[in-house]
Amino acid sequence: KSLPPVVFHWVPIVGSAIEYGMDPLGFYDRCREKYGNVFTFVLFGRRMTVALGPKGSNLILGGKLSEVSAEEAYTPLTTPVFGPGVVYDCPNHILMEQKKFVKFGLSTDNFRAYVGMIEDEITTFINNDPAFFVFQDKKSTEWETFQAFKTCSEMTILTASRTLQGPEIRAALNKSFADLYHDLDNGFTPINWLMPNLPLPSYRRRDAAQKAMSDFYVNIIQKRRAENRMDERDMMAALCGQKYKDGRTVTDREVAHMLTALLMAGQHTSSSSVAWTVMHMANSPTVAEALYEEQVKHFSNPDGTLRPMTYEEMKELPVLDGIIRETLRLHSPIHTIMRTVVSDIVVPSALAAPSEDGQYIIPKGHTAVASPAFTQIDRKIWKNHAEWDPYRWIDPSGEAAQALQEYLTGEKVDYGYGFVSKGTESVYQPFGAGRHRCIGEHFAYLQVGCILITLIRNLEFQLDTIPASDYSSLFACPQGPCTVRYRRRVT
Ligand code: HEM
Repeated sequence: KSLPPVVFHWVPIVGSAIEYGMDPLGFYDRCREKYGNVFTFVLFGRRMTVALGPKGSNLILGGKLSEVSAEEAYTPLTTPVFGPGVVYDCPNHILMEQKKFVKFGLSTDNFRAYVGMIEDEITTFINNDPAFFVFQDKKSTEWETFQAFKTCSEMTILTASRTLQGPEIRAALNKSFADLYHDLDNGFTPINWLMPNLPLPSYRRRDAAQKAMSDFYVNIIQKRRAENRMDERDMMAALCGQKYKDGRTVTDREVAHMLTALLMAGQHTSSSSVAWTVMHMANSPTVAEALYEEQVKHFSNPDGTLRPMTYEEMKELPVLDGIIRETLRLHSPIHTIMRTVVSDIVVPSALAAPSEDGQYIIPKGHTAVASPAFTQIDRKIWKNHAEWDPYRWIDPSGEAAQALQEYLTGEKVDYGYGFVSKGTESVYQPFGAGRHRCIGEHFAYLQVGCILITLIRNLEFQLDTIPASDYSSLFACPQGPCTVRYRRRVT
């Protein structure tokens, strides 16, 4: 058995860091042309072995615990930010139990309550936030501009704290909590992953913020307990008092650290998704109008106003669904999923092989990489791969859907409306797959969907050019100021 080909690089330790860092998906594409589906590149001395395509994702995301470890790959980055004892700072079976506790809080009952809360939060934001409509009186329908990514990040944290994080966090958002979040977030970058501990001010601020945030949550829990208020509709209430299989109760510290982890897991992923969606709608007025018309069709009152929607109704809106699904296809926030290889992995010949009778191995010590984000925009799989076309999801008999069916002949997959990626071998996995699959998917759909609907009911948008992706942080977000024009909807 042989090792996968190594990507050519000029500078020994640095390796392909610059090419990869500037445009990881373009880099994967160029490497595939030269080396095939499986190749190794050097990233500051680390050996990163990429396995592309649905079969590559299957190999890595469906890998056995004896072969791949997410905790070894991620803990240097996440533990200083989340705090000890949770997620990747505990054995995998404990993480699996913690994910079950979180799922308990992501209940349909809670989601039903969240729809109104998000609508209320966004309506207040666009009507009263000093940064929004700053030059307008409330009746004016003049065009204004806003910075899409910055504003969508604000709307995301406001709505996540109003719902999942709970009233105390929402109340503190304008004050102390925002600074703590900022310092913590600055410790959640690619540099922190490569060099988890440096004697630099940003690292010291990260550590101080982690402790302060942990204390902040623990104090809230203790106050709620003292006031007999353990029945809020939020994640803190869901996590407190949960028991591990061995009978041990989750500690207040663990609850605090899980809440920090959820805050970080949901913020960049959802905010970049909202921003990309808003920008694409601003750039495709016919799609934006279709989304608005869908609202009018389903929720019109006799007097022409729009009534609030319910969680159940929200799941029956194909245009909304297609828009979110397509945005996640084209702009998956997580471009590189990593695992540390803990024992040699044999690469199936159907994925890549050195010769007809040979096989590659990915050796222990390498970092194995899967990239569903690459597969989702692969020009060899998707028709008009680079085009944002929400309708490809709405018409399941359309050409795009057929091409996909052909690609995965024999696999029973529903590519039409209602399709949720479940398997580890799939062409569409924005939420990952396998044991580390995202548990925030339904909340993310709810949050992104409610924000969009509230925006589209109230505003019209315009944008001439969609910005490029910026890969300098851990998540792919839009590059530059992303200035979008908007005005109040004239109905
Ligand atoms: C895992 C994407 C929102 C919590 C993941 C993974 C992906 C992902 C790709 C797999 C990572 C891996 O295999 O290494 C997304 C996207 C989101 C989103 C695209 C929004 C558009 C959220 C939200 C939450 C959340 C809102 C919390 C409420 C988690 C958790 C995991 C996870 C707990 C599991 C980590 C593990 O088991 O190792 N997410 N996510 N995500 N996500 Fe999300």
